[in-house]
Amino acid sequence: MRLHVAEHPLITHKLTVLRDETTPSPVFRQLTEELVTLLAYEATRNVRVESAEIVTPVTPTTGVRISEPRPLVVPILRAGLGMLEGMVKLIPTAEVGFLGMVRNEETLEPSTYAERLPDDLSDRQCFVLDPMLATGGSLGAAIEFLFARGAQDVTAICLLGAPEGVAAIEKQVGDRDVTLVLGALDQKLNEKGYIVPGLGDAGDRLYGTV
Ligand code: PRP
Ligand code: URA
Repeated sequence: MRLHVAEHPLITHKLTVLRDETTPSPVFRQLTEELVTLLAYEATRNVRVESAEIVTPVTPTTGVRISEPRPLVVPILRAGLGMLEGMVKLIPTAEVGFLGMVRNEETLEPSTYAERLPDDLSDRQCFVLDPMLATGGSLGAAIEFLFARGAQDVTAICLLGAPEGVAAIEKQVGDRDVTLVLGALDQKLNEKGYIVPGLGDAGDRLYGTV
C-alpha cells in the first residue's frame, strides 16, 4: 500500500477551518469540495492515459487522454457524497458508483445499506471518497467490494486519517494495489472511535444530524 499525506499550507489552512467547531455547514461543504480537488491532484497522479494525435492551429502533435475504461469514482454515503463534486470537477469523464455504509456507533462495525456499482470492474481504476478514515472498517469493506468485482487498483481519498485506520487498511490489503491519500494524519482514535483532534462527525457537519 502507498500512503501519501498532503503537505501543503493551503490544505492545512482549509483543514484548520474545517476542524473548527464554529464553522457552519455551508462553509464546511464548500471547504470539503475544495480540499478534495486539491487532494485529487495527487490521487490521480497514476491515472492511466493513452497517447492521442491532435492538430493544434499550428501543427500536428501527440498528447495524451484518459484511457478507457474510464476511472470509477465511488463516494461512500453519506459523508463521501460531500466530496463528489470536488472530484468530478477534476475528472469530468469519470463514471460514478455509490456505496452506502454506516458504522454502528457501539461496535464500530460498518454495514452496507446501498450499493450501485457496475457488476464488472475488470481493468477499472477506482477512486473511493470518504472524508474520515477512523478504524478503517468502512473503507476496508469498500475496498473489498471493489476488488471482488475485478478492480485493477483502488485509490482512497480521505480528508483525515487515524494511525489505527491506516494500519488496519495496510494489513488488510496486503500486496494489492492500493493508494491512500490523506489531507492529514491525526494523532489517534478516542474511546468512542472518533479521530483526535479530528473534526467530529463529518456526515452530521455536512448534512445535519439524522
Ligand atoms: C463515517 C465516515 C466513514 C466512517 C469512518 O461514516 O464518513 O464512512 O464513519 O469510520 P471507520 O473508519 O471506523 O469505519 P458514518 O458511519 O458516520 O456514516 P455517515 O457518513 O452516514 O455519517
Ligand atoms: N466518523 C466521523 O465522521 N468522524 C470520526 O471522527 C470518526 C468516524
